[in-house]
Amino acid sequence: SHGPTVKRQDWSFAGPFGRYDEAQLQRGFQVYREVCSACHGLKYVAFRNLGQPGALGYNDAQIRALAAQYQIQDGPDGSGDMFERPGRPSDHFPSPFPNDEAAAASNNGKAPPDLSLMAKSRAVERGFPWFVIDAITQYQEAGPDYIYGLLTGYTNPPADVTVPPGLHYNPHFISGHFLAMPPPLSDGQVEYSDGAPQTVDQYSRDVSAFLMWAAEPKLQERKQLGFKVMAFLIVFAGLLYFTKKKIWDKVA
Ligand code: HEM
Repeated sequence: SHGPTVKRQDWSFAGPFGRYDEAQLQRGFQVYREVCSACHGLKYVAFRNLGQPGALGYNDAQIRALAAQYQIQDGPDGSGDMFERPGRPSDHFPSPFPNDEAAAASNNGKAPPDLSLMAKSRAVERGFPWFVIDAITQYQEAGPDYIYGLLTGYTNPPADVTVPPGLHYNPHFISGHFLAMPPPLSDGQVEYSDGAPQTVDQYSRDVSAFLMWAAEPKLQERKQLGFKVMAFLIVFAGLLYFTKKKIWDKVA
């Protein structure tokens, strides 16, 4: 078969009543900040997005304090020079490398991709017959399932497999079994303050949920509106049925 085997995981945001788990998004953000952001950008996400409804639940003061911890490239100033200043809520996350060449040079020619939309761009279709079932059941968590699978998928290669220099063996990688990203997580690496397990499994789950939020920040709103629309349509269909009966009463 082609492509990775994507195992489905339980997500709080799955299904018609799905909601992001605020504490999980906060933990996932912590993992992104402390680990992934060394190599990966998040350029479509602004600091203030973290405080929007259905996001991480931060208030204005927290967002301002967070933004101010980052140095942002700005300019040109009056004399045409670029300069750095502390971040503001409207700024986006700065990328770890100044440009693609520098990003590629840091990792054997493979630039670490921006993670803003990764959870949607890796929402790969599963093969027949799954894609039919997935379409009907509105399976929308393939992206975080894949990222979770990738982060937990590093293993020793089978005896007959030679891993090319600078690459790492991971059968969950979408294009082949070797990728340039070294296993980024290890147990105990990120210190959680809410008592959640400090394991590769939990970190992977949390950061995958966070990246789903980054790629789909309106998921909760969309599902809630969709539910109201469906409820309305059902009631409306009933009204139409009785109206039709009444109008055609004398004819039939
Ligand atoms: C690729 C996630 C940390 C370097 C990727 C991909 C994802 C990802 C989803 C794309 C895989 C694909 O194309 O299907 C993460 C997460 C991290 C993390 C969630 C933190 C937990 C890191 C770190 C580094 C790094 C710390 C650098 C030391 C790379 C590179 C690639 C990559 C070089 C490109 C791999 C290739 O195409 O061969 N990462 N990453 N990542 N990551 Fe990371």
